[in-house]
Amino acid sequence: MSSIIVIDYGSQYTRLITRRLRELKVYSVISSPETDIAELKEYDPKGFILSGGPQSVYSDSAPDLPKGLLESGLPILAICYGMQLLAKELGGVVSASQHREYGKTELISYGGDLFEGVDGEFVAWMSHGDAVKRPPSGFFTTATTTNTPIAALEDPRRKIYALQFHPEVRHTPKGLHLLENFLNQTDIVRDWTPENIVRTITEDVRALVQEGRVLLAISGGVDSSTLGLLLSRALDKQLFAVFVDHGLLRLGEAREVEEALLALGVNLTVIDARERFLESLKGVSDPEQKRKIIGREFIEIFYQEADRLQKEHGEIEFLAQGTLYPDVIESAGGHGAASIKSHHNVGGLPEDLHFTLIEPFRNLFKDEVRNIATSLGLPDSLRDRHPFPGPGLAIRCIGEVTPERLAILRRVDDIFISCLREFGLYDKTWQALAVLTPVRSVGVMGDDRSYSNLVALRAVSSIDGMTADWSRFPADFLATVSNRIVNSVPEVNRVVYDITSKPPATIEWE
Ligand code: XMP
Repeated sequence: MSSIIVIDYGSQYTRLITRRLRELKVYSVISSPETDIAELKEYDPKGFILSGGPQSVYSDSAPDLPKGLLESGLPILAICYGMQLLAKELGGVVSASQHREYGKTELISYGGDLFEGVDGEFVAWMSHGDAVKRPPSGFFTTATTTNTPIAALEDPRRKIYALQFHPEVRHTPKGLHLLENFLNQTDIVRDWTPENIVRTITEDVRALVQEGRVLLAISGGVDSSTLGLLLSRALDKQLFAVFVDHGLLRLGEAREVEEALLALGVNLTVIDARERFLESLKGVSDPEQKRKIIGREFIEIFYQEADRLQKEHGEIEFLAQGTLYPDVIESAGGHGAASIKSHHNVGGLPEDLHFTLIEPFRNLFKDEVRNIATSLGLPDSLRDRHPFPGPGLAIRCIGEVTPERLAILRRVDDIFISCLREFGLYDKTWQALAVLTPVRSVGVMGDDRSYSNLVALRAVSSIDGMTADWSRFPADFLATVSNRIVNSVPEVNRVVYDITSKPPATIEWE
């Protein structure tokens, strides 16, 4: 599949550029300025986008153009830092400005190939210090703002375009049109559709696995469930899916996942490990400790099951994982976030498992996986489910995890989630959760004084979970949820709503 390569200069919007391109049905990947263009052959690049970045082109550590970029002769769109870098490298003049320009600006005039078909007011989102003062030879100025005389440049002969503002953000409402115009200048094929992705993955996996066997851990989340279904269609009984029920799932969830996947013909083994997990979590309150124990137990059980399956069916050479693109970017270091919590998923499996890893979704975003889920016929209830952490309710039961406390939390969570659905808010929310705190507070129930549990509700909007904002729900909704919780869960007499964004808080409480 051909692609557009986004060269990452460290902008907070780099990933957004790839997302926008994929919205335009174009496959796009991020590469670093240090990577030689010759190394990107497997992606069949048809054009490049240079992202913005926090540096000045004059700083000592300013990243350069990738080797082979200009020589490739392919169309280039350079944004913000990318524009300044390109202008400087091609002999233009870039000057540092005293004031950083930040925010919405209206273009006074615009034109040229990149603005083809755009008319009326054009609002652009600016965030820059340096600016191009004189274009390199062969370039025309194609947009101007009051503060920035050279807000866009192009060399139509070489198909090189540059924008001082960010076309990828929503604050530049007509930005997508510019990206579309850029794509029209390339030979890219717009074939990034769920059906094509499934076909490509199926072909690749079949070619790799051949007659072999593949093991897959299903967590109940959309990624592993979708992967299970896709691989099941691609490999049939060569796929062995294992679902470890650790007893830390939501009300009825384990059952639902099992029934849905079995009904769809996935070769699934369910392991009831509820007691084992509870036993090993006994007396443990420390969040990291909980995560470690759950991770370790999970691996052990998975290991045992792999062993058992191998004895019964012959060697299993491959292990499949539902790793997504954001996980890859984050764990690759680079500009990703430092590890804040030891996230547990199957990624923690020891290397001595001796499996060859297959990660068919490592180039995909969650919304793309959801589109694949739709095209494969995964039930909506599974497809649209909010993200759920590997350690499950254990990290939402602050303090010790006991069957009694889990039962309270499950009921509260179920009421919250059901109300979200009832009020049509579930699909508008990125993630919602309930937390059972170790705090008790005084209340009145009838004529009696109560002294019982405090629960917290949290709901956030987010794109990928790395940053998040708390959801501004209508007061009526919150009142209904709170009433229902205290009326139907006698162990709870107080409900609070978490109004902290991420950062500084994380989404989960532990
Ligand atoms: P935080 O709490 O770090 O969470 O803001 C960001 C997103 O990741 C989920 N999360 C996890 N997912 N294993 C997972 O698979 C984990 O250990 C884990 N911890 C947090 C969290 O639910 C949110 O969607």
